[in-house]
Amino acid sequence: MKITVIGSGYVGLVTGTCLAETGYHVCCLDVDPRKIEILQNGGIPIFEPGLEDMVKRNVAAGRLHFTTDVAESVAFGDVQFIAVGTPPDEDGSADLQYVLAAARSIARHMTDYRVVVDKSTVPVGTADKVRAAIAEELAARGADIPFSVVSNPEFLKEGAAIDDFMRPDRVVIGVDDERAAEIMARLYKPFQRNHERVLLMDVRSAELTKYAANAMLATRISFMNELANLAETMGADIEQVRLGMGSDPRIGYHFLYPGVGYGGSCFPKDVKALVQTAKENGHTLRVLTAVEKANEVQKLRLVEKVVARFGEDLSGRRFALWGLAFKPNTDDMREAPSRVVVEELARRGAKVTAFDPVATHEAQRVMGGIAGLSFADDMMGALDGADALLIVTEWKMFRAPDFNRIRNSLKQPLIFDGRNMYDPAWLREQGFEYHAIGR
Ligand code: UDX
Repeated sequence: MKITVIGSGYVGLVTGTCLAETGYHVCCLDVDPRKIEILQNGGIPIFEPGLEDMVKRNVAAGRLHFTTDVAESVAFGDVQFIAVGTPPDEDGSADLQYVLAAARSIARHMTDYRVVVDKSTVPVGTADKVRAAIAEELAARGADIPFSVVSNPEFLKEGAAIDDFMRPDRVVIGVDDERAAEIMARLYKPFQRNHERVLLMDVRSAELTKYAANAMLATRISFMNELANLAETMGADIEQVRLGMGSDPRIGYHFLYPGVGYGGSCFPKDVKALVQTAKENGHTLRVLTAVEKANEVQKLRLVEKVVARFGEDLSGRRFALWGLAFKPNTDDMREAPSRVVVEELARRGAKVTAFDPVATHEAQRVMGGIAGLSFADDMMGALDGADALLIVTEWKMFRAPDFNRIRNSLKQPLIFDGRNMYDPAWLREQGFEYHAIGR
């Protein structure tokens, strides 16, 4: 079986490379010649641990190649994955123009049966639109060629994407015909350690599963963030509460960490898109609407604490900020809480010196224009003479820093921790003033 992946962004590149790793021959297409050139020269255009080595290995083995030539890529794969972007429209619904353009390009070039797989996160009902787009193009060509449309949502976590793909909790495959079901089940055999992992279902259920899973995870986070704010007022410690709750197996420990809000390319976008889909179909998702609202407010939580300590006007103040990426192990700045934190500090007149081990370059691109924001090359260098340290992303390297150096570098020993990284009692013993989330 040969495979084509359309869209060599984050999801497409991980998908194509991991499929090649198990022995398939894979062609990755992108319309952006710059991206393809980087890949053809042995580089990768994104940061993801382990991916670059895996790309090199599979290219060298002759199982993976990259192209901008649509005719070639359509001819290549029996299965054609669509893994292009679905950026949010103004109203929050997913913009399908790239997905549909990819589908049409397949239809324009195909000469025999193709399985077309939606890998991009697309709203319920998209497979029907993809099917219609392909049928229309084929009709325009006067061609009568069979094809199937499949939904196969991705559940990759940035920073852990390779492991997620190679050892998935589950593979969800939405199919409406036998021929495609058989092909897709065979395609995912190498990733199956036991039978239950591959869940075959109808296309619409598969499409909804992806949104349902992300919406549930976002709900847990917003729920915990609100509870953390309450715990603070009530004199409780949310970290103790979290452990107490998580020990109930019906609740579990995952995704109960309060912080400065969720970010990234999925949760904010998917929550908005699901609310919008519901609206278009006559439903109001009240819980999810509140989840989003709570998250917007939470992103300002750390600044509120700074304001409570220093006053509304922060001019003349300078803050060190550790962590810019929306979470550790990625350089992704999409919807990162740090952007809201920095903007709000700057709006109030403060200067910010930020450090991130990986995302600085990306941060410069998206926030470079903010007055008063500068970037430090090392974590301790950011601290010199700052009024306080703010922690926004929980990189491992921040877990056990040299607190003596922090104390000596800052104007005063003062930490605002948006990720609850340290033991409050111990830090206070060390002479620090420590503000965290929900404790
Ligand atoms: C998420 C889903 O986990 C993944 O299954 C889906 O395919 C894409 O979206 P990702 O966006 O890469 O993956 O990051 P994830 O690790 O889920 O974190 C999302 C955001 O939630 C981050 O900003 C993170 O800091 C925040 N988060 C996560 C919390 O604030 N608390 C938690 O307990 C967990």
